[in-house]
Amino acid sequence: MKNISVIGSGTMGNGIAHSFAQMGYNVTLLDISLQNLTKAKETISNNLDRMIKREKISENEKKEVLNRIMFVNEFNDKIENSDLVVEAATESKKIKLEIFNKLDKVCKPETILASNTSSISIEDIANSTNRKDKVIGMHFMNPVPLMKLVEVIKSKFTCEETIKKTFDLSKKLNKIPVLVNDSPGFVANRILMPMINEAIHTLDEGVSGVDEIDTVMILGMSHPMGPLHLADFIGLDVCLSILEVLHDGFKKEKYKPNRLLKELVNAGDLGVKTKKGFYDYSKGVKNKFINKRFII
Ligand SMILES: NC(=O)c1ccc[n+]([C@@H]2O[C@H](COP(=O)([O-])OP(=O)(O)OC[C@H]3O[C@@H](n4cnc5c(N)ncnc54)[C@H](O)[C@@H]3O)[C@@H](O)[C@H]2O)c1
Repeated sequence: MKNISVIGSGTMGNGIAHSFAQMGYNVTLLDISLQNLTKAKETISNNLDRMIKREKISENEKKEVLNRIMFVNEFNDKIENSDLVVEAATESKKIKLEIFNKLDKVCKPETILASNTSSISIEDIANSTNRKDKVIGMHFMNPVPLMKLVEVIKSKFTCEETIKKTFDLSKKLNKIPVLVNDSPGFVANRILMPMINEAIHTLDEGVSGVDEIDTVMILGMSHPMGPLHLADFIGLDVCLSILEVLHDGFKKEKYKPNRLLKELVNAGDLGVKTKKGFYDYSKGVKNKFINKRFII
């Protein structure tokens, strides 16, 4: 495998493109939004600068990594001839089914089609193609260049060869793949999202404040980051979509998204990517303040 395409250049897509390019793969990164493509290029460049400062790569290596990524906003022959396409577009079933249907039509027959979805059924995604055995979940974690895990999700159609190639490729990225069956939220988000939702219930019921809830989980449970801060990093819209998939899939009250989460998403306060969620990041990600509406 040499040629990789990534569909969607948001929080996850730019990190996935960066990781593949750094390991020497040729990457084509597609997004329908030119603005998001520009932002993705800036993010990758800033992340590479940070690696230069830490003396992990040289200026020249940065140039080489950036040169290996082609930023496009339309399908082209590079995507059609990819060995693997990783879809990392918005967490919406409708959007993903349309993308996979199109990828199946244009890509060469051997191309493996992977989705970075956090929760949507890989079987449903595979059903929108005529190559169900070559459709797999490749769930990277945020921030992709730093996080070791890849949750690899197989549907009942995914063949052994596709699983093996996905495992081999994950290892070539210096990551650790873990095999999981297709079930709403898979493993990672089935466990993480109810915790985040519960943290939001705790805030909503006035049990404690944003910083206090996060501090309890950091100091009390040794979590590296509090659940509300983590939700801001993931994206509150992404958290809401995942909880909706869990709620629909299991029909259990415990997965019902908290009303405050919905309110923030409706207001466009999606976390780090819009500079405001439970915290306010308008002075930078490192200089976070509590969002004014949560100051008691
Ligand atoms: N944010 C996280 O921490 C995280 C972690 C693991 C997995 N995921 C999953 O990764 C995927 C992407 O999430 P994200 O957080 O990067 O979202 P995001 O909102 O940051 O980015 C999504 C991007 O997809 C683009 N897009 C939408 N429709 C498209 C289309 N038809 N073709 C091409 N591009 C399109 C949008 O313009 C946007 O740039 C989702 O499935 C999400 O569940 C997210």
